[in-house]
Amino acid sequence: MKESIFKFGKIVTGESFIDRKDELKEIKNDVKNNINLFIYGPRRLGKTSLIKQLELELKEEYKKLISIYLDFFQIHSKEKFISLFGEELSRNKPFEIKNTIKFLKSILINIIPKISIDQYGNMNFEFEYKRSNEDLAFEEVFNIIKTLSERGFKVVVIFDEFQEIKNLDGLQFEKKLRSIIQTHSKLSYIFLGSESSFSKNLTNDPENPFYHSGKLKYIGKIPEKYWVEFIKKGFGLYNKTISEQLAKLVCETCDNISYYIQLFSYELIHIADRTVNKKAIDKVKDRIINEKSEFYSVLWRKLSPYQKKVIEVILQVEGKQMFSEEHKNKYNLSAPSSTSEAIRRLLEEEIIKKERTEYKFIDPFFKEWLKIKIL
Ligand SMILES: Nc1ncnc2c1ncn2[C@@H]1O[C@H](COP(=O)(O)OP(=O)(O)OP(=O)(O)O)[C@@H](O)[C@H]1O
Ligand SMILES: [Mg+2]
Repeated sequence: MKESIFKFGKIVTGESFIDRKDELKEIKNDVKNNINLFIYGPRRLGKTSLIKQLELELKEEYKKLISIYLDFFQIHSKEKFISLFGEELSRNKPFEIKNTIKFLKSILINIIPKISIDQYGNMNFEFEYKRSNEDLAFEEVFNIIKTLSERGFKVVVIFDEFQEIKNLDGLQFEKKLRSIIQTHSKLSYIFLGSESSFSKNLTNDPENPFYHSGKLKYIGKIPEKYWVEFIKKGFGLYNKTISEQLAKLVCETCDNISYYIQLFSYELIHIADRTVNKKAIDKVKDRIINEKSEFYSVLWRKLSPYQKKVIEVILQVEGKQMFSEEHKNKYNLSAPSSTSEAIRRLLEEEIIKKERTEYKFIDPFFKEWLKIKIL
């Protein structure tokens, strides 16, 4: 049987990647103009996939492209940063092997590049340096790309999960990075990060090294019409049909979260008859809630009794008017300051989000699980 186009849990590009045309156009233009970008938004909507698709499209556009992608979830020290940077540079193959050695030798003082060729003929760099020279080595890797940008290469550097940088060595790493980046006018840096940390620190906190140092771009949900089209196409390729109405129900059940729509469709296509019916959709919904039940239980157990209470009220009142006198009395809530503290924590933990004046659950299946367990 043909492979399904529904993919989840990994980066999607190509035929499993939909929409984002406007975003890609705008970001490509920013890259062209060497703008630094801070891309943020809710989890699992597709920031990383978008940027990987961007890489593919930039490759088509620029013959001499250097694209460095580093995920800060993987980085726990400057040493790791430098080593991953080397790997990324090898992946880009700026020059033929001989010229690469010559080029690196002309730039590097503190780093000794060890270049090896694997069985497939791919070049790999390893950067060696004295421990005591780590800071200098850190600066030197940036010199490599700066020089490449001055020699006709289009350079784009992507830092994913950038909010994790604060777990390295506090502000020092960030400050250093900021001071290096400031001098790089011929390349573009793209920072991807969580909604809460970016919107708070980059726009409101003058103490943050990256405060007002680039353009902020929000990545929201993919409009439902593209999902409906995609779902129908995916089922069609599998010789199954799903009505417009049920495709919409899938989107609604998943609260239009990209990851969940792909996961849901993947499961649905396998259990559904030739024509999808509502029963199959309910079955997949139950299955996902069941599969995540253990994870949700752990999450629930970690909450304080008062946070649990606030969650229950959010469910009861659909997150509306949480601070009204009526709800306070009806649900026996404590002082507004306790409620707002509990809400602050739930927002920080990315369990709930605020939309205008209402509080909503980020994970639609957690909400369903809660309804079953606590109401
Ligand atoms: N443009 C897209 N078209 C189709 N599916 C997408 C798209 N973007 C994301 N997805 C789906 O959502 C999933 C999560 O995407 P991705 O990892 O890119 O999101 P993210 O915002 O980087 O998530 P996180 O916040 O966890 O880093 C993908 O595995 C895929 O199933
Ligand atoms: Mg991501």
